[in-house]
Amino acid sequence: MTGRGGSTGAPDKGERAHWFEDVADHLGAAYLRYSHTMGTRQEIDHLVAALGLGPGKRVLDVGCGPGRHTIELARRGIEAHGVDISQRFVDVATELAADASTGGRATFERLDARHLTFVHEFDVAICLCQGAFGMMRANGDDDAVLAGIARALRPGGRLALTAFNAYFAVRYHTDAQFDAGTGVSHERTEVRDESGAAAEADLWTGCYTPRELRLMAAAHGFTVDRIAGVEPGAYGEGPPTIELPEFLLLATLDAAGGGDVSAAVR
Ligand SMILES: C[S@@+](CC[C@H](N)C(=O)[O-])C[C@H]1O[C@@H](n2cnc3c(N)ncnc32)[C@H](O)[C@@H]1O
Repeated sequence: MTGRGGSTGAPDKGERAHWFEDVADHLGAAYLRYSHTMGTRQEIDHLVAALGLGPGKRVLDVGCGPGRHTIELARRGIEAHGVDISQRFVDVATELAADASTGGRATFERLDARHLTFVHEFDVAICLCQGAFGMMRANGDDDAVLAGIARALRPGGRLALTAFNAYFAVRYHTDAQFDAGTGVSHERTEVRDESGAAAEADLWTGCYTPRELRLMAAAHGFTVDRIAGVEPGAYGEGPPTIELPEFLLLATLDAAGGGDVSAAVR
């Protein structure tokens, strides 16, 4: 059952719903030249093993960007649906997925992850590299993302989510301003498009501690299986540490399933 189609999940065509859309418009496919995107295969190798993924499973990729994980899953025979607020990234992903190696198993649509309307449709959700979670400027956005993911999963469904490490941000992101009240780090940086042209951009990253992740996961009906300290292209099982930029949360949705289903069709 899907509560999509004219629902609040899909912003009106052309409507700006998120600050990242301008950044994505400038980046386009050049996003895939950034070093943090180079480890897709290793990341999917790890997640396939850790989440017991294989053909027959259906995966929701939240904040999928240009679709690198969705496409890699599809290449491995797994049906995957990527959602992203950026129409530009959805277009890039759709074009890349047209390649025969995906077997038509990778699909994409523009949706705001704060208003997901899927209900019990997916076996697994992934939300990687601040894919919607950790891209907020307002408190509450990440809770809305997690609530929508919980609703989208079948009871017992699995979640893999990465979040930026607050301790790492404070210690090493000395060019950014870290707001201790919200845990949001703000930096002004330069992003380059496909021709190499630079544009100035403001980036906001919501940062987390493992304890916050545990509390949020529990609040949305998940049992935490593991929180590991990781970095892009090197997902593993090591304990959380101050020295690695991300935490990888693996969790299982409780049998009762996720949250208020009526919220999906309001
Ligand atoms: C840093 S990129 C990560 C993309 C991809 N998951 C990856 O690993 O390469 C963050 C993505 O989240 C998307 N995003 C941010 N907020 C979102 C929201 N509220 N709903 C849907 N997508 C969102 C952005 O458009 C962007 O594509």
